[in-house]
Amino acid sequence: MSDNCLTIAVDGPAASGKGTLSRRLARHFGLAYLDTGSLYRAAALKALDNNVALDDEAAVAALAETFEAELLDDPRLRERGVGEAASRIAGLTEVRNALLTFQRKVAYSAPGAVLDGRDIGTVVCPDAQVKLFVTASVDERARRRHKEMAEKDPMVTLTDIKADILRRDARDSSRDAAPLLQATDAHLLDTTNLDIETAMNAAVSLINSVLAEKR
Ligand code: CDP
Repeated sequence: MSDNCLTIAVDGPAASGKGTLSRRLARHFGLAYLDTGSLYRAAALKALDNNVALDDEAAVAALAETFEAELLDDPRLRERGVGEAASRIAGLTEVRNALLTFQRKVAYSAPGAVLDGRDIGTVVCPDAQVKLFVTASVDERARRRHKEMAEKDPMVTLTDIKADILRRDARDSSRDAAPLLQATDAHLLDTTNLDIETAMNAAVSLINSVLAEKR
């Protein structure tokens, strides 16, 4: 951490609204934004495209270290199967280590950054000045993700999406390597009954009050 750098860590389960919120927080505070889930998704997509087994730790870690930056803009990253594969490779320690340096470089480059993921406040940036843990009920998260997915795939049902989310939550929370966990010094933001504007206002005032306390 450096004095001329503000790092905001935003963690939470799948489809909790942390991505939209983090992107807007970055704009609001004039910081860079990194969706760390897209790194896991890109490594997973690369493995799927190259027929690399998702449990081949060394091979997937090598892909995580070398994938092209353009892959982060590939629309296939948001596909259901890629989210599922990302959650599987995210349990591999070597893969997580391969992505750590890049995440920290973004987090600690002036003027700073908002990073969203699962382990930002606990592992990637344990010294972030502000940590948020964004959550919502599983039904609300399934409803949001279904709305997003149904535009691309009208056949997908709410029941399918809820099952995906429950499976990923269980895997992300129970793994040994950097599990999804609220850091002890993270502030909980439950967005179940909040629209994006209200969630954004709540997050901005929380962040401002944490920063005012530190001054
Ligand atoms: O957008 P959504 O919340 O569905 O997922 P994501 O943030 O794109 O992350 C996809 C998967 O990557 C998650 O299910 C996690 O298993 C993994 N991930 C992680 O382990 N650590 C992170 N910092 C970010 C994502």
